[in-house]
Amino acid sequence: MQPAPGKLTFSKQQIDAALDQLAAEIMHDFPAQKDLHIIITLQGSLFFAADLLRRLDRPLTYDLVRASSYIGRMSSGAVLLDGLEHIDITGRQVVVVDDILDTGLTLSVLLQELYMRHPLSLRLCVLIRKTGNIKVPITADYVGFTMDKEFLVGYGLDHNGQYRNLPEIYTYDPLTK
Ligand code: XMP
Repeated sequence: MQPAPGKLTFSKQQIDAALDQLAAEIMHDFPAQKDLHIIITLQGSLFFAADLLRRLDRPLTYDLVRASSYIGRMSSGAVLLDGLEHIDITGRQVVVVDDILDTGLTLSVLLQELYMRHPLSLRLCVLIRKTGNIKVPITADYVGFTMDKEFLVGYGLDHNGQYRNLPEIYTYDPLTK
């Protein structure tokens, strides 16, 4: 069994309730007859997106984009995007699904790239909105949890690649290591 990496912050029940709510909001805005294409950012959104999309009981398509800017617990400031080359979203209704909106740097670059591909609409769904480090103000249309700026691991979130497979979300505490 893996030792807890810090304080339990969002339990399985809380995550499930947030996913139910997000799915209900997206289903409300995108009834089944409307086109829906999801762009999932890797790697942190893997479990979030898999659990959310299976709650969207309607036709949809999706693509994966790898976005990275973090080294350890710090944003490097340089945003790397991989996987956009083959994405065609012209005229489509798009929802981006991302794990955490923190400084806003990563999503500002990704959203700009996606806007240049002329989608009919572009919305943003994040599991967690951190409010304590904002550098680029970006509004998410669908938000699971809001918190200040603690560094989180578990449920896809990592510290140097570790802890992603924990089913719950913890505030990472380097002192407990
Ligand atoms: P920015 O600062 O560009 O960052 O909005 C967004 C991306 O940074 C990662 N991030 C985290 N990853 N625990 C993580 O495992 C965290 O607490 C955390 N905060 C930001 C994440 O990939 C997010 O998409």
